[in-house]
Amino acid sequence: MTETGPRIVVLTGAGVSAESGLGTFRDKDGLWTKYDLAEVATPEGFAADPAKVHAFYNARRKNARAAEPNAAHGALARLEAAGALIVTQNVDDLHERAGAAGVVHMHGELMRALCAACGATWEAPDVMEVGDACPDCGGGPCRPDIVWFGEFPYHMDRIAEAVQGCELFVAIGTSGEVYPAAGFVEEARGAGARTLEINLEATGGRFDQRILGPASDVVPDWVEGLLGR
Ligand code: OAD
Repeated sequence: MTETGPRIVVLTGAGVSAESGLGTFRDKDGLWTKYDLAEVATPEGFAADPAKVHAFYNARRKNARAAEPNAAHGALARLEAAGALIVTQNVDDLHERAGAAGVVHMHGELMRALCAACGATWEAPDVMEVGDACPDCGGGPCRPDIVWFGEFPYHMDRIAEAVQGCELFVAIGTSGEVYPAAGFVEEARGAGARTLEINLEATGGRFDQRILGPASDVVPDWVEGLLGR
């Protein structure tokens, strides 16, 4: 463990927001069964049909704004307040709306916009459109501040340091199908951390321990147990 790093690192995925009504990606009825990932979640897809990509993320932004954080988000905010680091693959803002202030969004944020020309970011409007101008440079194209397939996730240095320095690494509601996040469990193990998976069902990752069940049920119990309440 590093002297200053968090003892507990929590990685969250779409399963944490599933009970808030936001769809996961790979489950039965998941988003990637309804949409072509290459069309809506790659730079090439955006270049080919930006209107389609904006429509996809505008709809997801609307759903996220209408959703409420669930008990798992609330419990994780309490764990963060006790010193844990939350790293999320989720682009919604439900961790923040449950009170977590320092969440690391490795796949970007639905509520932010990004200028592909100058790199400026700003709060996304409800509806983003082809032809929007960057408030900074006046150019564009403007896009959702989402990390697409083929792009580098954000904050990887900070995350690697935390994962390799923690005592306990916990993956919650993530299928472990998408790298680099899927590799964090091995990085944590290699550095001597205990590893825990919380999910509806066991994934293929090598975890020391598993708690299986819906996140809104099992995460609050786990957090309260850990905090000794
Ligand atoms: P997935 O859709 O791949 O996996 C969701 C996981 O959540 C599965 O393992 C489910 O078993 C679990 N799950 C579903 N409902 C749950 C519940 N109520 N309680 C607990 N677990 C539940 O989503 P991610 O792993 O987050 O990237 O996907 C990773 C990345 O792939 C996403 O960030 C996104 C996607 O393509 C980009 O768009 C770049």
